[in-house]
Amino acid sequence: MASLSSFLLLLILLFAITLASSAASVKTYFPGIFQSSLKKNDKNLKPKIPYETHYFPQNLDHFTFQPKSYKIFYQKYLLNSQYWQKGAPIFVYTGNEGDIDWFAANTGFLLDIAPKFHALLVFIEHRFYGESKPFGKNSYKSAKTLGYLNSQQALADFAVLIRSLKQNLSSETSPVVVFGGSYGGMLAAWFRLKYPHTAIGALASSAPILQFDGITPWSSFYDAVSQDFKDASLNCYEVINSSWTELESISKEGLAELSRDFRACKKVSSIYSARDWLWEAFVYTAMMNYPTESNFMKPLPAYPVKEMCKIIDESSPGASKLSRVFEAASLYYNYSQAEKCFELEDETDDHGLSGWNWQACTEMVMPMTVSNKSMFPPSSFSYKEFADDCMKNYGVRPRQHWITTEFGGKNIEQVLKRFGSNIIFSNGLQDPWSRGSVLKNISGSLVALVAEKGAHHTDLRPATGKDPDWLIEQRKQEVEIIHKWISDYYLDMKQE
Ligand SMILES: *[C@@H]1O[C@H](CO)[C@@H](O)[C@H](O)[C@H]1NC(C)=O
Ligand SMILES: *[C@@H]1O[C@H](CO)[C@@H](O)[C@H](O)[C@H]1NC(C)=O
Ligand SMILES: *[C@@H]1O[C@H](CO)[C@@H](O)[C@H](O)[C@H]1NC(C)=O
Ligand SMILES: *[C@@H]1O[C@H](CO)[C@@H](O)[C@H](O)[C@H]1NC(C)=O
Ligand SMILES: *[C@@H]1O[C@H](CO)[C@@H](O)[C@H](O)[C@H]1NC(C)=O
Repeated sequence: MASLSSFLLLLILLFAITLASSAASVKTYFPGIFQSSLKKNDKNLKPKIPYETHYFPQNLDHFTFQPKSYKIFYQKYLLNSQYWQKGAPIFVYTGNEGDIDWFAANTGFLLDIAPKFHALLVFIEHRFYGESKPFGKNSYKSAKTLGYLNSQQALADFAVLIRSLKQNLSSETSPVVVFGGSYGGMLAAWFRLKYPHTAIGALASSAPILQFDGITPWSSFYDAVSQDFKDASLNCYEVINSSWTELESISKEGLAELSRDFRACKKVSSIYSARDWLWEAFVYTAMMNYPTESNFMKPLPAYPVKEMCKIIDESSPGASKLSRVFEAASLYYNYSQAEKCFELEDETDDHGLSGWNWQACTEMVMPMTVSNKSMFPPSSFSYKEFADDCMKNYGVRPRQHWITTEFGGKNIEQVLKRFGSNIIFSNGLQDPWSRGSVLKNISGSLVALVAEKGAHHTDLRPATGKDPDWLIEQRKQEVEIIHKWISDYYLDMKQE
């Protein structure tokens, strides 16, 4: 039963959401975001970041000219001008599906490189996320309001805001470079392609722009997660793979014991809650398989996949597979050592990611299946079931071909080699989203930087004293390429 119709979406990090009313559990992972162990309303949640907050009066609808399109909402953006000189470059982070402060706090790369370029740093929040909700608390009420949440409106917001900002700074000739990770990376790449007069180049990190419309095999995401664990230890992969049958053999009467064993805060109502909880730990840990200690969704040690597998490999041989897998998952949920018990069912949305469900149900259709090569129980994807769920939840059906119609993606090398320029597609092969990203050089200025040991937008994270050489090298190469775009731009300007 319960074929997990798992369509997953992720970008920056990952976040798992169950659409409550769907019969099968439908999980959504975001390409960029993780859930943090901090509880809602925790004051510490607001990261301390060296940015000033501003609000820009933005147009609700850029593409129609009905009176209601002119409704204004306040779009949040963050500014750091401490290194900036007039005329120097403007680096814009194209915000993705969550609070912009959180992305700013996790994109230390821009702060690290700003001094070298005397760059102004701008982080723009994506409409319908964080504080940039056009209809306030009612923004997610129905398709009537959510209809204005889509990637094309978001790109237009960025363009309008950048134009206004440059004008206000009297720095219209400043070159703009856009940056983004995960969904934000997709937006950065698309922004360069759609608004070449506004951005001279884009760094699109872990941007799965090929995860649509069957361009990348549907099973690739979970195959990649599994490969990470297999590479860490074959035994670990096999133990995880065979733990699911142990879990499935637990009857309704066994749920109390399972809840105790899993140190659940509240008794779980189904084994599928436990399964999803384990599943999420493995997926996010693969995404966050960073070479140094990190705290994106949750605090994790360096190379956490290896650490999880160590727990499995070194546990006593008498322990059940399920208990070993639980101990491994606890590394993800309790590396902080601060959890008294685990919330297996009531996850909190600390970074404001829930708008992604709407995007997944309309334009961001990324079907995912689980193949028999993976360490997860195989499952298929039914487009009809998925579309029916969306209809039930939002009253609209997905447009599964829209993204490739609007932005392309099919035969991308052939299409872009004679059209696009100045985009870096950076990826880490540990990141399961990398398989839906651009991994090959397309032309001299459409460059793929691939780090075998990198994870989800590792390059955008702040530099640390413990960074491995390959990461230092990757960032250095990015800086050199961006430097070239900028000097070409100034040279062209002089010659005019
Ligand atoms: C530019 O200035 C105008 C007028 O003061 C203001 O309304 C607008 O928000 C400013 N633009 C930005 C991007 O802050
Ligand atoms: C994974 O588990 C399933 C079910 O127990 C089993 O049929 C399959 O052979 C296992 N695959 C691997 C590679 O261990
Ligand atoms: C989390 O880790 C701490 C320290 O090891 C431990 O005392 C606590 O029981 C753990 N929490 C859970 C839910 O396992
Ligand atoms: C695994 O899937 C492949 C392709 O779907 C199929 O050909 C193969 O028979 C399957 N193997 C097992 C052991 O089920
Ligand atoms: C793409 O070209 C750059 C040099 O411009 C090189 O460093 C990089 O390794 C190439 N990427 C791939 C995936 O071959």
